[in-house]
Amino acid sequence: MSDNIATLEINGEKHEFPIIEGTENEIAIDIKKLRGSTGGVITIDPGYKNTGSCQSGITFLDGEKGVLRYRGYAIEDLAEKADFLEVAYLLIFGELPTKEQLEKFHKDIKKESVVDDDVKKILDAFPKSAHPMGVLASLTNALTAFNPSSVNVDSEEDMYKAIVKILGKFPVLVAWTMRKKQGLPLDYGDSSLGYVENVLKMMFKQPNEAYTLNPIVVNALDKLLILHADHEQNCSTSTVRIVGSSHAGLFASLAAGISALWGPLHGGANQAVLEMLEGIRQDGGDTKKYMAKAKDKSDPFRLMGFGHRVYKNFDPRATIIKKAADEVLGDLGVEDPILDIAKGLESEALEDKYFVDRKLYPNVDFYSGIIYRAMGIPTEMFTVMFALGRLPGWIAQWREMRLRKEPIGRPRQVYIGENHREFKNISNR
Ligand code: CMC
Repeated sequence: MSDNIATLEINGEKHEFPIIEGTENEIAIDIKKLRGSTGGVITIDPGYKNTGSCQSGITFLDGEKGVLRYRGYAIEDLAEKADFLEVAYLLIFGELPTKEQLEKFHKDIKKESVVDDDVKKILDAFPKSAHPMGVLASLTNALTAFNPSSVNVDSEEDMYKAIVKILGKFPVLVAWTMRKKQGLPLDYGDSSLGYVENVLKMMFKQPNEAYTLNPIVVNALDKLLILHADHEQNCSTSTVRIVGSSHAGLFASLAAGISALWGPLHGGANQAVLEMLEGIRQDGGDTKKYMAKAKDKSDPFRLMGFGHRVYKNFDPRATIIKKAADEVLGDLGVEDPILDIAKGLESEALEDKYFVDRKLYPNVDFYSGIIYRAMGIPTEMFTVMFALGRLPGWIAQWREMRLRKEPIGRPRQVYIGENHREFKNISNR
């Protein structure tokens, strides 16, 4: 590799490829011309661990240094000083909004926050036992049928209309998904409230009581949504981009992203944390026993919510959310043996040599599950809350992909099946 050129030698023949550099000095070999110049050679990289799928100006993260920035702004500053809707605007349009821009954005979203009443019939058809992520993905896809103009978006203006539509309707679907499961009447909240305040009201308002907002809970949810709003090219985001690259509509692309997020290896981890804590409780609540199991190499048990594939020193999101978790638990005065087990595990792991040596700190999912539980959100809804937070990131990535006129996503493969075979009639097989 020299002078911004990488040389690849195949069967004695040399091929040169440009090296490109990102604004944070990340280096990549541009292999766009690889097949053409080599007569059909491709690269193979299952899981895309070494493959950049795009050039993006939205989110930067450095796992070694524990850095996460949206559009150049530190996640710590955004979580402390901005609200979720401001962050959504920043991610989608690239700049922090002025007061006027933010007001117009919110007004446009509110105008679109009514869902066609027939969507209720679709929701009604699901059994109560349905996982909320499946319901949410289906309803999001169904919205395309009720809003066909959201599909052909050739101008930025068309895109804007589709974006405010989904930002208005998605929280309604999130809330209805939970209320349906709990047998509560569907609610539209109150459009005079802030975006996050209204989400809480839509989810929790009881039919026979006025709903009072708790500022500590609003603040914690606002932060959680900001922290989950984007995380560059992860599984669900890449899914949204690749589905959108076929020019399927925004809502269909988002529905695919929701399905990708559902999996326990991705957004489902926050649910796994609570299920682990519940398992420990049912086994007598002995945290020391489970600490020992986590360290025992002959035992497959791992402490869910500890460690991270990308963040190797600390998860910057976890540092921020731990404070909010302490505030929420303190303020709500929640008495819950599950939360006591969580606190026990956290303090033991932070002082345990095994965990300290391997830099295994609680990750964002450890605390988000605890907060959601304290707020009274059912465990199965945790990944739905993650989806609500990730919505602006998915939209921003979809919009960027369309504006950059990226080609349809179509990976290659190395075929390892049978070579040509003669067809045999069924009587001869
Ligand atoms: N409990 C006990 N030991 C652990 C744990 C854990 N949670 N995580 C890692 N280790 C040990 C592991 O056994 C290994 O030990 P040794 O060096 O003696 O062999 C060492 O720490 C390094 O682990 P690793 O598996 O090489 O680390 P990784 O980067 O491959 O895995 C991880 C990262 C997140 C998959 C893993 O830490 C884990 O399974 N954590 C629990 C699941 C979890 O909380 N997942 C949510 C992650 S946050 C969601 C997101 O942002 O996408």
